[in-house]
Amino acid sequence: MIQKQRGTIDILPGESEAWQWMEETIKETAALYGYSEIRLPTFESSELYKRGVGETSDVVQKEMYSFEDNDRRSITLRPEGTAGVVRSVIENSLATGAMPLPLYYLISCFRYEKPEAGRSREFYQFGVEQFGAQNPAADANVISLGYDIFKKLGLEVSLEINSIGCRHCRPKYHKALHDYFDACKDELCDTCLDRLDKNPLRILDCKSPICSKYAADAPKTVDYLCPECAAHMEELKLYLDTAGIKYTVNPKIVRGLDYYQRTVFEFISEDIGSKSTICGGGRYDGLVEELGGPHLPGIGFAMGLTRVMLALKAAGKLPEISTAPALYIASMGDKARLKSFEISLALKKFGINASFDQVGRSLKAQMKYADKIGARYSVVLGDSELEAGKATLKNMADGESREIDIADIQALAEVLNA
Ligand code: HAM
Repeated sequence: MIQKQRGTIDILPGESEAWQWMEETIKETAALYGYSEIRLPTFESSELYKRGVGETSDVVQKEMYSFEDNDRRSITLRPEGTAGVVRSVIENSLATGAMPLPLYYLISCFRYEKPEAGRSREFYQFGVEQFGAQNPAADANVISLGYDIFKKLGLEVSLEINSIGCRHCRPKYHKALHDYFDACKDELCDTCLDRLDKNPLRILDCKSPICSKYAADAPKTVDYLCPECAAHMEELKLYLDTAGIKYTVNPKIVRGLDYYQRTVFEFISEDIGSKSTICGGGRYDGLVEELGGPHLPGIGFAMGLTRVMLALKAAGKLPEISTAPALYIASMGDKARLKSFEISLALKKFGINASFDQVGRSLKAQMKYADKIGARYSVVLGDSELEAGKATLKNMADGESREIDIADIQALAEVLNA
């Protein structure tokens, strides 16, 4: 038997309803903030991610699903959403319209990682990207959207923020990091040794135990910020305080992707085992230019929906969602089955899901089936019911019965909707 690939999940009926509820809740909240959906290709040129996400990131160095297509072009399944959105904004000249431009996406992403709880190779993200606003007010508004989504879902999360500076103050910080890690370079893993000269910031999020031990005492970004970046951070805090959003400043957050500048942030959930990042994001003011577009500041985040779902389950926050029909129409004979089909279609016009026998089961088997699918009511149609135009509607939970007029669909709908 062919089985699903390692690190992928099947979301089955019974679970998919909860996913739909989660996604609808998220989309409704994004609409309140004025965000519009953008739908993009699942694969892009590998070059986009190498330049966008960054050659020294774990994602590009170790995790991309890349292949050559039949025309020998290097193609990559998207490992994240930001680079593709930026590509599309440039390609479709969206930067010439009204600013800011707030966009959201619901996508699956692909990273070749070691699968474990909350970490898979194909995973789902809800992400937002907002372009054209450089003020800390934009950072706060984006963070507030993430915060409101978790509130609406009923999840408790904590927010951690940091600033990783800009292209003016970063070189000084890089030098401090370089000097610090150079002193212990013999113990760094091969990947980090390579990063030492290229981008020592990346060593800070290496998962190897030795590198992370040294990373714990490394120089902190916040101590090297230029006055503009420091002021940006202070103003962001003021906005978050005004919004009543609690946060802690965590100087260790540097994010795993290379495009960030200034503000970076993560929402952490304690519901899924040890502290887990359920959502991460930040500002990327240089990325649009880096990918060949105009100067256009940007900020966004992405939440890992597989993790959000795990947290919702663990916290007992998933609502009861029933897909059971309101009515099961059992029938005896071909004429009655035809009528039951007609009634089920007529009830749909009243927004009611009524199910009928499509298999040709015996009456006993039909009633067993009605019970199994959890129908709230049942009715049996046979020749005598068709002749009389009347039938008996039974409440499946308490057995209570009442006579109904088969032709009066509106009256039947009112009973079922009550
Ligand atoms: P990221 O931190 O790489 O950021 O991913 C965002 C979220 O996706 C993570 O916090 C996590 O919840 C989830 N995630 C990442 N990898 C996996 C995985 N292998 N399995 C399950 N969940 C995972 C980005 O992707 C940026 N594009 C976010 C962003 C948008 N920054 C600015 N705009």
